[in-house]
Amino acid sequence: MTSLWHGTAPLIEVDAALPPHADVVVAGAGLAGLATAALLSRAGLRVAVLEAREVGAVATGNTTAKLSLLQGSVYSGLLSHAGRDALEAYVDANRAAQEWVRAELDGDHESLERRDAFTYATTAAGARAVDEEAEALAAVGVDVDALAAGQDAGLPYETTRAIRMRDQWQIHPMRLLARLAASVRDHGGVVVPDCRVHGVEVEDASVVVRTSHGELDADRLVVATGSPAIDRAGFFARLAPSRSLVGAYRVPGAVPRGMYVSLDPDGRSLRTARSADGGELLLVGGEAFTPGRERETDRLLRELDDWTVSVFPGAERTTWWAAQDYRTVSRVPFAGVMPGTDDRVLAATGFNKWGMTNAVAAGLAIAGDLTGARVPWADALRSPHLNVRDAAEFVSAQAAVAGSAVSGLVRHGPRPVAEAEGCRVSGVCTHLGGALEWNPLERSWDCPLHGSRFAPDGSVLEGPAVEPLKAVG
Ligand SMILES: Cc1cc2nc3c(=O)[nH]c(=O)nc-3n(C[C@H](O)[C@H](O)[C@H](O)COP(=O)(O)OP(=O)(O)OC[C@H]3O[C@@H](n4cnc5c(N)ncnc54)[C@H](O)[C@@H]3O)c2cc1C
Ligand code: FES
Repeated sequence: MTSLWHGTAPLIEVDAALPPHADVVVAGAGLAGLATAALLSRAGLRVAVLEAREVGAVATGNTTAKLSLLQGSVYSGLLSHAGRDALEAYVDANRAAQEWVRAELDGDHESLERRDAFTYATTAAGARAVDEEAEALAAVGVDVDALAAGQDAGLPYETTRAIRMRDQWQIHPMRLLARLAASVRDHGGVVVPDCRVHGVEVEDASVVVRTSHGELDADRLVVATGSPAIDRAGFFARLAPSRSLVGAYRVPGAVPRGMYVSLDPDGRSLRTARSADGGELLLVGGEAFTPGRERETDRLLRELDDWTVSVFPGAERTTWWAAQDYRTVSRVPFAGVMPGTDDRVLAATGFNKWGMTNAVAAGLAIAGDLTGARVPWADALRSPHLNVRDAAEFVSAQAAVAGSAVSGLVRHGPRPVAEAEGCRVSGVCTHLGGALEWNPLERSWDCPLHGSRFAPDGSVLEGPAVEPLKAVG
C-alpha cells in the first residue's frame, strides 16, 4: 500500500544532523510544515524541519491532492458553524493559498494540471446538500455553474444535482513537497527525517525542543504534525479524525476529466493521475471511517473496488492507500499561537480533508505572524467560532469517545496485550490510554479516542501520540 504519490516521488535531499540552534523549529514535514518552513527561510530565518518519519509520510503523501476552491460541503458547514465573516476569511485564505501553490508549481506540467471541479449528487439527500452548498457559495459571492438536469457532468452515470467551478487544479503532492524541502535547504535550513519531537520547554525568550536526536534551542516551535503532537491547549479533544481509502485504477475507455466530489451518503472523490509509466489512472476516494472504530476495514476496500467496477466496468486497481485528516468542531482550521506558551509555540491543524490549500494558508498566516507581515484574513479565522450547536456536538463527540474507550477496555480487559505479526505490545495507547483496535486492512493498531495509529511492533505511525507501545514479554 504505497500511494501513487510516493511511488512516483522525486528524490528528496535531506539532512542527517540537527543544527546547534534554529530561529524556528518546525515539527512535521507535510505540506503545513514545509510551506511554513519555506516561507520563513525565504524571509531569512534559520529553520529546522524535524520529521518523525520521512517527508510526506502521513496525510500529504497519501492525499488526493485537488487544489480546489470547490470543496464538497465545506462552505455550508462553515457558514452554519462559524458564520459569514469566518467563511469570507476562509475563501480569501484559500484563494491566496491556491495561488501560492500554483505559482510554486508553475511550468511543471507533471505536477500541476488545470481541471474543472464538480460537486454532485446521485441521491435526493445528496441533492439537498448540493443545494445548500450552492447557497453558501452564493452568500459569499463565489461563482459556480449550476448544471441543469441532464446536463453532462462528464460522469458515466446520472446526477440529481451538480455544480461546477471552472479552472481549478490537481497536483502531485510529493513533487510539491520536494520543491519546498529543496527551497528550505537552499535558504540555509535543514530537513531532518526520522527525528521525532517529544516535547518542549518554554523558557524566557526561547524554547528547548526535545527530540529523538537530542535537544535543540530555538526561538519558536511550529507544530505541524497533523493532530498536534505537542499540545498545551487540548486540541486533541476538539479534533475529529476521519480516515478514508483511495484506489488508483486503470480504466478501459474514457476517464472523466474533472475533479469530482459527491455529497451522497457514500461520498466518492474522483480525479485522474499519471501512472509511473505515463498512463492515465482514475483515483477513487471514499469509505470514510473513524480510526479505531471500524473493525472490518478490509471490507471497505472491497466496497470501493465493487463501486468502481460497477461504474467503470473492467477497472483494475493498481494500488491503494489510506490517510486521515482532522476537523475542528467549528470547521475553521487552526493556525496560530498555542495558548499557554507565551507566544513561543504555534500550531497548524484542522484542515478537514482540504489541506492542499488550508495547510498552505496556515503557513502563510504563521509566517506572516513571525515575520511581521500579517495576512489580512488571519484574524477572522482565529476568533472562537463556537456556537451553541457546536458545544452540543462537542459534548456528544466526547461522550462517543469516552464510550468507545470504556467498551474497548471492557473488551480487552484492564491490561490488554496487542499481538500481531509476531509482535506482542501493550494494547493501551500511549497518548491518553485508549484501548487500541486492530485495523486488518492496514495492519496497524488504531486508537478510537483521538486517532493515533501504531505499527505491529508498537512504533508510532501517526496521531497525537509521541511514544511507542511498550513491548510485552
Ligand atoms: C484521504 C484524503 C484525501 C484528501 N484529499 C484532499 C484533496 O483532494 N484536496 C485537499 O486540499 N486536501 C485533501 N486532503 C487533506 C490534505 O491531504 C491534508 O489536509 C494535508 O495533507 C495535511 O497536511 P499536514 O502537513 O497538516 O499533515 P501531514 O502531511 O500528515 O504532515 C504531518 C507530518 O508530521 C509528522 N509528525 C507527526 N508527529 C511528529 C512529531 N512528534 N515530530 C515530528 N514530526 C511528526 C508526520 O510524520 C507527518 O509527516 C485529503 C486528506 C485525506 C485524508
Ligand atoms: S490518541 Fe488519544 S488516547 Fe489514543
